[in-house]
Amino acid sequence: FQDGSIHNEPVLGYRAGSRERQDLIEELKRTASVIEDVPIVIAGKNITEGEPRYQVMPHDHSKKIAKYYYASEKTIEKAIQASVDAQTRWDRTPLTERVKIWQTAAELMAGAYRQSLNAATILGQSKSVIQAEIDAAAELIDFFRFNVHFLKENSKYQPISESPTITKNSLRFRGIDGFIAAISPFNFTAIGGNLAYTPALMGNAVLWKPSDTALLSNWRIFNIMREAGLPDGVVNFVPSDGPTFGRVITSSPYLAGINFTGSVPTFNWLWNEVGKNLNTYRNYPRLIGECGGKNYHFVHPSADIQTVVSGTIRSAFEFCGQKCSACSRIYIPQSLYEPIKTGLLAERAKLKIGDPADFSVFTAAVIDDKAFARITGYIQRAKKNPKNKILGGGEFDNSKGYFVQPTIIETTDPHDKLMTEEIFGPVLTIYVYNDKDIDKTMDLIGTSTKFALTGAIFAKDQVFLKKAYENLKMTAGNFYINDKSTGSVVGQQPFGGGRMSGTNDKAGGPNYVMRWTTPQSIKETF
Ligand code: SER
Repeated sequence: FQDGSIHNEPVLGYRAGSRERQDLIEELKRTASVIEDVPIVIAGKNITEGEPRYQVMPHDHSKKIAKYYYASEKTIEKAIQASVDAQTRWDRTPLTERVKIWQTAAELMAGAYRQSLNAATILGQSKSVIQAEIDAAAELIDFFRFNVHFLKENSKYQPISESPTITKNSLRFRGIDGFIAAISPFNFTAIGGNLAYTPALMGNAVLWKPSDTALLSNWRIFNIMREAGLPDGVVNFVPSDGPTFGRVITSSPYLAGINFTGSVPTFNWLWNEVGKNLNTYRNYPRLIGECGGKNYHFVHPSADIQTVVSGTIRSAFEFCGQKCSACSRIYIPQSLYEPIKTGLLAERAKLKIGDPADFSVFTAAVIDDKAFARITGYIQRAKKNPKNKILGGGEFDNSKGYFVQPTIIETTDPHDKLMTEEIFGPVLTIYVYNDKDIDKTMDLIGTSTKFALTGAIFAKDQVFLKKAYENLKMTAGNFYINDKSTGSVVGQQPFGGGRMSGTNDKAGGPNYVMRWTTPQSIKETF
């Protein structure tokens, strides 16, 4: 992008007295004052069926913000039919027209609807103001703009034609005939937008199953796309029970792909279902999955202490550690342990936890009762295990909202569950290594978990950095040197992990759009 053709959307500051702060305050009031009705939408028609369900505010779970419905098996089948019907027409829509819809949508997201998306993310997913702005504004808008940019860049390549007056060779990018199922998570509003709409940009039709706990923000994206001119049926909005949705889509012969972000067991289950039905499909379904991590910070004795402390606090505790990229294990050399521990505990004590709509709050509640039970289960187990010591935090309370205090634990066992399993909450575990065992400890990073999503090393020693760069090569799809493991930016650090963290198709990178096309080579003879 050195030519300046594309830029990331600026992240707004929300300073006291700023226009954006005023607008957001009004949107927060508006969003909190109604229970928004969110239907299933198939081919542009609203459907409400079965018992209504409610999305609540995680930090104040007595408050509902959206009322929604689960699509039944029959309704999911209808959505498949609608997608298949819409796909050919949509794929024939000239690319310039399709692109215009994405550009219009990005402008609506950046302008008129910025605060509506932020408010739904703050209240519905309990993100702090700044974390919502990074996600539901900047990253979402970036996905829409950059994917168009990448599509244009990728289209520039055309095969050679040796005798252009006799034959002309070309390549065109078609959507896949069938439908794509987009199954998105709660933790990033932007991921929902990317999973559902990038396949659509490329000429595919989509069944979008949003996360129940990100329903309102996802619904608002869906409406922006309609307003921007996306024809009915291209993306169908299908909240539903996970296993039911999974079974229906994988048993349809029209399944052309799954665009998934979520847990390893769910992705494995979907993959197995696809395997079982493989002989029945018209296309080999593309399976793209982003499945989690056990992300590390590795501190070398030459590291800058303040950089380690501030980066680790942010990576481990922003948005309650519910980013796929959050640091949850840190390896600290004995020689730096005291100052780093003191720094981490001092910074931890300053974090303000509370209502995410309060502009001074650092982080709020975890997403729901299931998350609360899982995370506090790890903390309770740690309290009982003499190998583990709670250094800070460890308290939790779900009487009003699902609050878990940022928790720092020290373990003497590098293979303890705290060091190997994904907790997906505000729990950071420290393992202190002997300075003599740097190499042995580095080996632990890659061998003690099956994940390889993000990782960071902190060191000034250039010789060590070179070695770590090679030794840790396979341990992270996103690797940071002297910076925290979170905060990838679209177009700057394409995001995704290897090993069991996912298929590493790099959202926000140049090749992602190409995963959603089935190209055609054409040789024209004159
Ligand atoms: N892209 C986010 C980050 O890097 C995680 O999904 O923090």
